[in-house]
Amino acid sequence: MAFSCQFLFLFGLALVGLTSGRALNTDEDVSPRIGIIGAGIGGTSSAFFLRQLYGPKVTIDVFETEKVGGRTTNIRINAQDYEAGGTIIHKKNKYMVELARKFNLTAYDNRGGILGLWAEDGIRLQTSEWTAITLAKLVWRYGMDLYTARHWINNIGFKQFSRIYEFQDRGMAFTTVEDMLRAMGDDLLNMTRYTMNEALRGIGLSQTFIDEYAAAAVKDNYGQTVEANGFLGVVSLMAVQPELWSIQDGNKRMAEILLRESKANLVKGTVNTVALIRDDLGTGGVSYELDYIKGNDKKNTESKEYDIVIVAAPLNEQTKNKISFAEFPRDVVSFKQEYHKLVSMFVQGKINATSFNVGSQQECPDEVITITPNYFFNSVKKVSPVSPNTEPETPFKAEEAIWRVFFNKNPTQEEISKLFESHSDLRLVDWWAYPEYRAGMDLPPFMLYDRLYYVNAVESAASAMETAVIGGRNVALLAFNQWHGNFDKIDEVQLPSLASSSGDAEKSEL
Ligand SMILES: Cc1cc2nc3c(=O)[nH]c(=O)nc-3n(C[C@H](O)[C@H](O)[C@H](O)COP(=O)(O)OP(=O)(O)OC[C@H]3O[C@@H](n4cnc5c(N)ncnc54)[C@H](O)[C@@H]3O)c2cc1C
Ligand SMILES: *[C@@H]1O[C@H](CO)[C@@H](O)[C@H](O)[C@H]1NC(C)=O
Ligand SMILES: *[C@@H]1O[C@H](CO)[C@@H](O)[C@H](O)[C@H]1NC(C)=O
Ligand SMILES: *[C@@H]1O[C@H](CO)[C@@H](O)[C@H](O)[C@H]1NC(C)=O
Repeated sequence: MAFSCQFLFLFGLALVGLTSGRALNTDEDVSPRIGIIGAGIGGTSSAFFLRQLYGPKVTIDVFETEKVGGRTTNIRINAQDYEAGGTIIHKKNKYMVELARKFNLTAYDNRGGILGLWAEDGIRLQTSEWTAITLAKLVWRYGMDLYTARHWINNIGFKQFSRIYEFQDRGMAFTTVEDMLRAMGDDLLNMTRYTMNEALRGIGLSQTFIDEYAAAAVKDNYGQTVEANGFLGVVSLMAVQPELWSIQDGNKRMAEILLRESKANLVKGTVNTVALIRDDLGTGGVSYELDYIKGNDKKNTESKEYDIVIVAAPLNEQTKNKISFAEFPRDVVSFKQEYHKLVSMFVQGKINATSFNVGSQQECPDEVITITPNYFFNSVKKVSPVSPNTEPETPFKAEEAIWRVFFNKNPTQEEISKLFESHSDLRLVDWWAYPEYRAGMDLPPFMLYDRLYYVNAVESAASAMETAVIGGRNVALLAFNQWHGNFDKIDEVQLPSLASSSGDAEKSEL
């Protein structure tokens, strides 16, 4: 720590109530120095949008301790790359679709093959390669629930969710996740306060549908059960619609290109402290110092000063790269975000047909999702490489495939042989994957202190590549609006009337 000032600390303590949220800018003509911690999709999209807003002159540094892409990353098996983290993108994920197009990234179709829902006693339901047959099976089992769910998702869910794009296209930002959800729609905010089970019953869905179809959706996407909150339930149901894709060569390409296009500097290092070194009371003018370990050598620490700091990595207790906040007059992380442990296992091998009650390998669905809570695995899925023009080094034996299994804890040998008759390669990837989604959980703020922002607050609503971009853009807009005193564009839960914004002059495009 280069600087520490007891005097400012005391004053800050006395006047924090007056200053928080106020940011009348004294540095109007000065370009801010911006530091971003984390180069996942959240941090790199913040950098990208900040560059669009502030223009070429501002300095933007992005700190990354591991790899650009974060929770989107590839794993190489038998000379081919597979998605090890965030995989599936929906056709209605507006930002991912538009950015991929803008950056000339190729999308490939990544809808699943035949899907089986697995309860302890066997396969409860299995889709067919024929859409009509699948539909008939679903209607037979769930009746009107299918229509009720689809209607709700399309006419209320997606509609309310899409409102965030309208706000952001008009340059509007939110200081908390709660305000963001309120602006999208009261129904969505309300759903965070109830369990998925309660919220989906509130929509009129039957218990069978909730315990099977909805349970599978949330188990597959978030490793959790219908005791997770209702908002996550809706997001999970949106994610099992049939139109799914991924980015060729890996979704991490998105973070890499966002970073390149932002023209930010990548600093390879681990930030361990964010210190408030100047706090001009009443003006919002602050300076921060980031202390970081350069490269891998723990003794090699350096520090840099910034006017705006963006934390774009989870502030949970569990992760190893913990960031501490020093010299602040109050606690800036006064919320809890507990993360869910997920283990993804990759094998090249043959499925154990006995365990799945099927006659042969071929009869096993391409993906099996468990609907029994606390079963030993969440899902088993046959996966394809991210680059179509690559070949395996050693040709696959008959009936072999690359399978990905999600577990909530490390599997035992016995569990592995229950799943696979044989396997030639086995990899485990441990993740603090996404929050534990509980009813009434804390919804953290995007703004931790004057000009100190937190992208991953958005994950407490829902963790996904698309929401990381939404969080990244929100934080960029929030920083910009506060810097320029555009208070009319902060925390407005109503869109300005069409009349006042008809000129489109204020509308920004990606
Ligand atoms: C197994 C798995 C499956 C998933 N499936 C999907 C899916 O199918 N579809 C989907 O949309 N989403 C999915 N997700 C979620 C999605 O991957 C994440 O929501 C998203 O990638 C988060 O991006 P982020 O930038 O906010 O965080 P991250 O990607 O975690 O980025 C944070 C970065 O900060 C770095 N960092 C942390 N601490 C420090 C420090 N002190 N100093 C410097 N750098 C630091 C980290 O190394 C990391 O690179 C999945 C996630 C997992 C784990
Ligand atoms: C995408 O392709 C277009 C047309 O070939 C080109 O003009 C543009 O610069 C490319 N964009 C990026 C980000 O590579
Ligand atoms: C909130 O959701 C619960 C559970 O679905 C429902 O019973 C309640 O009526 C909702 N409240 C409002 C104000 O919509
Ligand atoms: C397949 O799984 C069954 C249990 O369902 C187990 O008894 C058997 O040993 C497994 N087969 C192999 C080859 O591991």
